[in-house]
Amino acid sequence: MFREKRLIYMTLSVLILVLLGLLIYFLPLIPRKAPAFNPAYSDVRLSDDERIEILLSQMTVREKIGQMALVEKYSVLEAKDVHLYGIGGILSGAGAKPELNTVEGWNAMVDGYVSASEQSRLGIPVLYGVDAIHGHSNVPGATIFPHFIGLGASGNEALVTEVAKATAEELTATGITWSYSPTLDLPKDIRWGRVYETFSDDPALAGRLGVAYLKGLHNKSTSSITRISVLGTLKHYIGAGSMQWNTSSNENYKIDQGKTPADEKALTGVYVEPFKKGVDGGALSVMVGLNSWGDTKLSAEEHLITDVLKNQLGFNGFVVSDWYSVYEIPGGDYRAAVAAINAGVDMVMLPFDYKTFVDNVLRAVAYGHISDERIDDAVRRILRAKFALGLLDGERQRTQDFAKIGSTEHHELARQAVSETLVLLKNDGHVLPINDNPALIRVAGSAADNVGRQMGAWTVEWQGIDGNWLEGGTSILEGIRAAASKETKIEYELGGNFKNINEKADIGIAVVGESPYAEGWGDRELPILNEEDRATIERLRAVSKKVVVVLVTGRPLLIEHELPQWDALVSAWLPGSEGAGVADVLFGKKPFVGTLPLPWPKTIEQVPIRNDGKTADGSEVLFQRFFGLH
Ligand code: BGC
Repeated sequence: MFREKRLIYMTLSVLILVLLGLLIYFLPLIPRKAPAFNPAYSDVRLSDDERIEILLSQMTVREKIGQMALVEKYSVLEAKDVHLYGIGGILSGAGAKPELNTVEGWNAMVDGYVSASEQSRLGIPVLYGVDAIHGHSNVPGATIFPHFIGLGASGNEALVTEVAKATAEELTATGITWSYSPTLDLPKDIRWGRVYETFSDDPALAGRLGVAYLKGLHNKSTSSITRISVLGTLKHYIGAGSMQWNTSSNENYKIDQGKTPADEKALTGVYVEPFKKGVDGGALSVMVGLNSWGDTKLSAEEHLITDVLKNQLGFNGFVVSDWYSVYEIPGGDYRAAVAAINAGVDMVMLPFDYKTFVDNVLRAVAYGHISDERIDDAVRRILRAKFALGLLDGERQRTQDFAKIGSTEHHELARQAVSETLVLLKNDGHVLPINDNPALIRVAGSAADNVGRQMGAWTVEWQGIDGNWLEGGTSILEGIRAAASKETKIEYELGGNFKNINEKADIGIAVVGESPYAEGWGDRELPILNEEDRATIERLRAVSKKVVVVLVTGRPLLIEHELPQWDALVSAWLPGSEGAGVADVLFGKKPFVGTLPLPWPKTIEQVPIRNDGKTADGSEVLFQRFFGLH
């Protein structure tokens, strides 16, 4: 009898405990009654700050957390989730396209998500984000500008602003309001696969051009313009570009997503400098990197995000985490989200499972692991950017100015930009520019007639597309044919296997370099010219009196041993769709004005370049930063 009673008590206690557990687990998820609706946040006569507070005061916790979610477009399970969850941002990761991959298709896709978000209770539009890092480069037909490293070589702020402005026009034509650019990383190691995404390893130059770019995207040219065109993002905060070889947290990579060894003084000094300029220049969004500082993922770095960026630099926009980086914080999904949000991440690029994220954060708030104040602060920051874009100012403006995309005007601007990015590194006997109408020029090399290589990665596909698939661009060979005088015969052979070898060309132009790569897939232990390119140059040299090498690369390559055999060397970086811009300078129609945005090492032992500009082994580089013949 007694034993039976004990059993009943025990069963009852277990049942109660289970019920209690279930209650604690599910109670936070039960939808609460929403505060009364007050449309005053739409009143444009009030200040943005007043409107933000009115809006915030009527949001449920669930609606606030929804705003903090940034979801990859393929992961949105149903369009209605956008308003049911009140999702704050949707992104197309590189290569994530609409079914109909055209300008119209992009516009319809983005419009679909934005319209869905406008149906939410409070009608807060979603931000749609893309990596417009060298033009609206996800969209076939868009103008493809030089990658940032080339713009760094130009050093021209006004040009950079114009490029960003044109990019913003192409973005807004498809309804896109947010770009994950400019990149302000300082590349210290040419083995890194993202060197070309940066302007320079010089903090002053990176900061100057970053602000110029932001100005163009925001296009808030006068103080009477209160709204920005496209929200820019300073990335990747912080120390990305100085990770150590072989420390990547990604098993496929070597240095990208690795550990940044810099001490606090360097991180908050040299590395912060361009970000400080960007913050002072009106940035409203900053992305934290996928790298780690010591053993801590940057997205969990409360000191660097909250103390330094927000409190010391006074950044009042929102911090967004990079792709899945929050879940790389150890401890499981729940703890990771708590750690990142408490560290100061305001919007989480999940990018996949938003339902679990919303549930986890709802629980974390109910259990007191994340404070209401932290949530309010995050949402206030996100709303600040949305208000700055004018997204809540009434009827949405759909520019749909498709003619802007790949317009003649933008192509001309891109061509001008290319001409300013070229750096002349060697010019024996003044072989360049070619303006004396030589009888025969021979052109060879893997990048001579390959617009895909010129454009590099982040062009329609994440890893780029090799080959001549683009309509509307020009290869460097086409540019050369058009720029040469009528008296000059141009012969082209990809591998330099020319037939009539008895007749020597006056000039041989070898256009060689790297095939497209993005992120850690471009990490290279030894960045050199490949066997095939070297053989091509040798074959061309054998049939030409003088040889000019044009490098199409995302970074300096180690060419110490080959250089003495070349008469001239030009770094063209990744010029984008306008090969004609390269030819303009080779043929003296425009001058060489570019200078190296980073030091060009001689040997691999010289990298990483130290923060004081010295090489790792103390020896002299091949070419100093800012070198360039004119
Ligand atoms: C990159 C970011 C980019 C993001 C979204 C990440 O892999 O590190 O630079 O903005 O993807 O495409």
